[in-house]
Amino acid sequence: SGLDKNGFDSYLLKEIHEQPLAIKRTLAAYMNESFDDFETLMPDLTTVDFIYFVACGSACHAGMLAKHWFEKLAHIRCACECASEFRYGNPPLDQNTLVVLISQSGETADTLAALRMCRKKGIKTVAIVNVEGSSIAKEADVYLPTLAGIEVSVATTKAYTCQVAVLTLFCIHAAIQRHQLPIKDQKQLLADLNRLPALMADLIRNDTISQFADQIGDAHNVFFIGRGLDYAQSLEGSLKLKEISYIHSEAYAAGELKHGTISLIEAGTPVLALISDAALAAKTFSNMAEVKARGAKLLLVIREDLYQHQTGMDTHLKLPKVHPLLQGIISIIPYQLLAYHLAKRHGCDLDQPRNLAKSVTVE
Ligand code: G6P
Repeated sequence: SGLDKNGFDSYLLKEIHEQPLAIKRTLAAYMNESFDDFETLMPDLTTVDFIYFVACGSACHAGMLAKHWFEKLAHIRCACECASEFRYGNPPLDQNTLVVLISQSGETADTLAALRMCRKKGIKTVAIVNVEGSSIAKEADVYLPTLAGIEVSVATTKAYTCQVAVLTLFCIHAAIQRHQLPIKDQKQLLADLNRLPALMADLIRNDTISQFADQIGDAHNVFFIGRGLDYAQSLEGSLKLKEISYIHSEAYAAGELKHGTISLIEAGTPVLALISDAALAAKTFSNMAEVKARGAKLLLVIREDLYQHQTGMDTHLKLPKVHPLLQGIISIIPYQLLAYHLAKRHGCDLDQPRNLAKSVTVE
């Protein structure tokens, strides 16, 4: 059945490997040879001037990635907030605000409560949900499904990448509707979307990441750094590592490190840097040099064309280059695998980490 482990040692690893297919299926639900189908599937954004992305856990990191793209590509002001803060805060909501709820299960208590609060105030809502027929999918004005299939592992992998993929398509729709996406870019995006599943499969097979795990070994503290999208992705990478392997880690915006956390860097402290944005690469390289000077063990995940040899770099892994908007769908894969390898080494339960639940229906 689709629910056995298919020869993998865990649902976690099986679901990591299912990502190329899950992405392919999700993309196919929205588009063919062009983005024309978006008109009927996606919400109308012509009157929207503010978007809130609201979610919990990993889904909230997907929302952070989306905030960047919507601002950069579609020029819409956005915010991303975790549901338990959003619902008790005083978010300024009006008729031109759109609230996008993101949830794998569609039942997370705080996310559902945030949705109901918006509905009560008459605010437009969109739900990006993996479980069809779930409360959040049913109650939102517009439901945009992810087609990850059933996810068993408590730590989300394929549902997360599918959320990022649907948010990406949604952003493409917004940019097209606002005349911000030239045909040339649309063509490039279509071509790269078609290549994504194969590129993801290659990355999943790449075994460099197990060398990262060797280098981290028994470290008690790990740091993830990146800028922009790579910062949001670092937060997700850090969460994966913490939740499954119980190794403490912290994700920092690369430029913020020197404002505090750099005091925790000692000889041998592993620092993982993610660089997928050409415009920010030089800045992150200089932050890497800062931690290297304090003796950090530097591990780098970098878009292939941005790689330059750095003295003192311990190991690096190259990411395939795709349209910048799509980079976030693949750049999390090495960090998912890293968490898997370290959890396995440490003898942790890969699918059922202690104290965590797949679906959190309490507030
Ligand atoms: C739980 C899970 C997380 C998940 C979060 C949100 O805490 O352990 O992996 O990201 O809930 O779940 P949802 O179903 O709303 O995406």
